[in-house]
Amino acid sequence: MAKMWAGRFKKELNKEVNDFNSSISFDGVMFESDIIGSIAHATMLGKQGIISLDDSKLICKTLTEILDDIKNEKLELDLEAEDIHMFVEAELTKRIGEVGKRLHTSRSRNDQVALDIRMHLRKEADETMHLLLKLIEVIVKLAKNNKETIMPGYTHLQRAQPITFANHLLAYAFMLKRDYDRFMDAFHRMNYSPLGSCALAGTTYPIDRETTAEMLGFYGPTENSLDGVSDRDFCCELASTASISMMHLSRFSEEIILWCSWEFKFIDLDDAYSTGSSIMPQKKNPDICELVRGKTGRVYGDLMTLLTMLKGLPLAYNKDMQEDKEAIFDAFKTLKQCLSIFTPMLDTIKVNKNNMRNAAAKGFINATDLADYLVKNGMAFRDAYKISGSIVSYCIENNKVLEDLSLEEYKKYSELFNEDVYDAINLEKCTFKRNSYGASAIESVEKQIEIIEEFLNSISE
Ligand code: ARG
Repeated sequence: MAKMWAGRFKKELNKEVNDFNSSISFDGVMFESDIIGSIAHATMLGKQGIISLDDSKLICKTLTEILDDIKNEKLELDLEAEDIHMFVEAELTKRIGEVGKRLHTSRSRNDQVALDIRMHLRKEADETMHLLLKLIEVIVKLAKNNKETIMPGYTHLQRAQPITFANHLLAYAFMLKRDYDRFMDAFHRMNYSPLGSCALAGTTYPIDRETTAEMLGFYGPTENSLDGVSDRDFCCELASTASISMMHLSRFSEEIILWCSWEFKFIDLDDAYSTGSSIMPQKKNPDICELVRGKTGRVYGDLMTLLTMLKGLPLAYNKDMQEDKEAIFDAFKTLKQCLSIFTPMLDTIKVNKNNMRNAAAKGFINATDLADYLVKNGMAFRDAYKISGSIVSYCIENNKVLEDLSLEEYKKYSELFNEDVYDAINLEKCTFKRNSYGASAIESVEKQIEIIEEFLNSISE
């Protein structure tokens, strides 16, 4: 295909350079945004009298046909083309000749690509946010079924204090809710149209940027022509949000991997969401979680690609910026894929409530409550902490747990101990009396569920 800039050049582009330069193999996915953007531009050109109304109408009609043809696979993208923008314009000119050549008046590929990528990423963000909501819904469902399921809560991966499985699960619901909010925030900041910034300096034609921005669902035009075409901070923000979201999924995955090991056996994965080993017949592997954990690094890599690509770039557009697309598209593709598979996997887990409870019943998970008992009977916390530690040490030496000790044994450590100490260290009581805001008690967990459900309802409204 002859290059659009053939007038300025005497030789054809070297084939390898053409391949190196070309982005259509990865920006072809933006065809719809590109065409819709061009339709808005052509409509505005007609309205402003920059091209004739007849030309404007013919361009719009033909662009719509091209869009349909690509969608219906009647028209294939030409991989020899430099990018999707050149391809669409060349196809338009092929179909309507001279008139097609008028489309690019007072526009540059620089504002075109800045526009297309914003429009494309709006859709990607929207789909991702939808998937985040689906996962939050599944977490809420599981939490509702596990309000009374006691498990050990950990710090340093050491049993720390008893919690409910519901409280543990809901921690992820709040993380994912913030991910949703972060995508929304990024959307609000990026939803301005760069169209009409032209190459970098704007134009002498009487264009109407408000109209094109409005036609394309933007809040308005970007305020500065150089900024409009040459910043990709929104890509960084989206990749950063995707990275944070992957990080959350990765932590959740890591816990699921632990929970379904024989050492924990807190949950079982459904057969449809786990894999076997080629050699060890007993194995049931949490491959999905491991892949999510692994792919997290890849999304971080996408973020680094974007930040590093932009670092030190002078204004305005530079070809380096063509590297934005593969990185940000990959970040979204990976996150969407992970969410799509993680959600049904979580939805089908079997919770082994007894194993969770048994794990919580060992390991001196109620030692804090023992100390608190002494505090409630008048002792200073530091002293109570020390005495409880000594009692734990005594138990370990004698292969006992706190519940096994006689009142006589307790009294050797402090006269403040009475018969009601057993009640104070009872596992259920320790768990369900923690009813502060955000805690594990049934009423505290119900409040959290209410907050998340309100959030979910506010979105579906
Ligand atoms: N394919 C280019 C990109 O993705 C489009 C913009 C090209 N502009 C230019 N002046 N070469 O960034």
